[in-house]
This record gives sequence, structure tokens and C-alpha cells, in this order.
Amino acid sequence: MNGLIARWHRRLPVTARTPIVTLGEGNTPLVQADRVAKAAGLPPASVFLKIEGANPTGSFKDRGMTLAISKALEAGATGVLCASTGNTSASAAAYAARAGLRCVVFLPKGKVAAGKLSQAVMHGAEIVEVAGNFDQALVMAGEAAKTKGFALVNSSNPFRIEGQKTAAFEILEQLGRAPDNHFIPVGNAGNITAYWKGYKESGTAPRMFGWQAAGAAPLVSGTPVTNPTTLATAIRIGRPVSWDGAIAARDESGGMIGKVTDADILAAYRFLASREGVFCEPSSAASVAGLLKLGRTGKAPSGISVCVLTGNGLKDPGITARFTPKIRRVKAGGKIRL
Ligand code: F0G
Repeated sequence: MNGLIARWHRRLPVTARTPIVTLGEGNTPLVQADRVAKAAGLPPASVFLKIEGANPTGSFKDRGMTLAISKALEAGATGVLCASTGNTSASAAAYAARAGLRCVVFLPKGKVAAGKLSQAVMHGAEIVEVAGNFDQALVMAGEAAKTKGFALVNSSNPFRIEGQKTAAFEILEQLGRAPDNHFIPVGNAGNITAYWKGYKESGTAPRMFGWQAAGAAPLVSGTPVTNPTTLATAIRIGRPVSWDGAIAARDESGGMIGKVTDADILAAYRFLASREGVFCEPSSAASVAGLLKLGRTGKAPSGISVCVLTGNGLKDPGITARFTPKIRRVKAGGKIRL
């Protein structure tokens, strides 16, 4: 089966003996976004969207999970464990189901989008609801993994980062060159770390622009946030595990890590859906919200920018419900003026 391990095995830590667990992840679309470019004050053909919601479970997590689960199986693990704001648990549950492994997920109570929770349920994960936030759930998951001897498949697992770096390889192939700028939402900071690794291994160095939600922006303030708040629940994280990786990506690339408000995020989320035809989840829209924010002060960087859209909009129907649709009602066979 075609998946990213088959495609990139020479650049990944696998051998002929690694049992490959795949759902055909990777090879996601890179879509030109001229309306975003215009809104940011940039010329046509300068902004591209990497649609990671097109992965099998609807988020970029599948890239790291195919490798993390394959390696857990190779190492003889009987189960896997993670804490999650939703997408990691959905992906871990799916790949564990395919591998025949037990999967236990620690989720912050009331802060996981409905679509993500239903994925964990249907893939048969054992769910532990933590009355606390993601950072607290992650500490508990780490301890439980040690006690049980299960593989921890959060992004502290180096195989997750290795798998996720393949998205950078794909972008280089799809563009036929390196982008000048790379925009990405940042939560636990595994993904920005992975892209930077992938770009560097390919001898390229786009400027890395990471974006956090204003209520959960420890990398901007420089100190952990005890009670992170944002409607972008996927990035509601106050103490990112890959802190150093994010700072290295920022500083080595000459980029920045900034913050966007929930209003900025929702505006970008709506713009992408209604003007570009791309439905991502709110956290994902943080990358484009960041570009548009720079654009408002005429500071959008020149050259080619890639914005990563990390997850599918269908995952979070609770947010969509905030937008009141204009619906006209009619009897079957009745007349309606359009
Ligand atoms: N976008 C989405 C849709 C996510 O689910 C996440 C993280 C991020 C961005 C941020 O990526 O953590 O590598 O900086 N979700 C994790 C989870 C934390 O548990 O699903 P990051």
C-alpha cells in the first residue's frame, strides 16, 4: 500500500523488518490561494495552502503516527498511549486499531471537538477524561505509559517528528523549489520542529513563521501559561513539549513566533471556507490568520509563502454552529424566489 513510509523510507528510521502500518497517508494537496494573497497585499501565485486535513483521519498527525505505531509494533509493544487535544488521539486510535494494539487516550474534559472524540470512540480507544488541561493530561499519560510499558505516541516520541518531516519533502517536490516563508500553527510545537528538520535535511531554509492563539501563547511571552484559553482547542496548550525545537526553528531560519486572537482565527477560518473553498479547523486557520495579520501592517513577507492547514473543518461542528446560516424554508413543491 502506498503511504509515506513506502515513499520516503530511505530518509526514515525503518528497515526491511519494520512492520509498516499505513492508511495511505501523505501526498496531500498544495493549493494556490490568490484570494488570501490579495488580502495580505501580495501578488498572485505567492501563497499556497498545504491541505493536511486530506490525510486519512483528517489531520497531519497521521504522518507521525504511521511511523510511531509501526515502530511500536516492531519493538513489541502491546499498547500505545497519548494525551491529546483531539487529533493525536483520533490518529493514534485509528492506526492502533489497524495494528491490533490497545490504545489509551487522555483527553482534557470538555475541550475536545466532537468529530475528534467520535473518531477515538469508533476506533475503539480506551478514553480517560482528565478534569484539567492538555498539559496536565500529558504528564499523566507519560507516567501511565512508563507504568504499563506502552509506547507514548505524543510528539515527544522522535518517530512522530521523523514522520511529520515528510510534509516538508512533499512541499519541495510540489513547488519544485523551497518556499521563502512557511506559516504554521503552533501548539505543542512538534510540527514546526518537524518541518524545520525536513527543510534542513533537504538543504533548504525558509523563514519559519509560527502562530499561537493569543490566550495560549507561551512561546511569544517566553513563559509557560498555566490556564491556556482559546476556542481553537487543538492548540490550547500552555507548556509545549518541543519548546526548544520551536525556538530553534524561529532563530535559525530568521523567522518569528507570533500570536493571533480568536477573532483573527475565526475570520481566517471563514475566509478560507467562503473565499477559497477550503474548510479547515479553527486552529489550522491560525497560519493564515498570521499572514493576514502581517499583511494588515504591510509586513507580509515577499516571495512564496506556504501556509499549513493542519486539520479538516468537519472535525469541529461546535464552532460551525456559531455561524448562523441564512435558511429559507418552503413546503415540498412550494414556490421560492431566488
Ligand atoms: N493544528 C491542529 C489541527 C492540531 O491538532 C495541533 C495539535 C496543532 C495544529 C499544533 O501542532 O502541537 O505540533 O504544534 N494537536 C495536538 C493533539 C496537540 O493532541 O492533537 P503542534
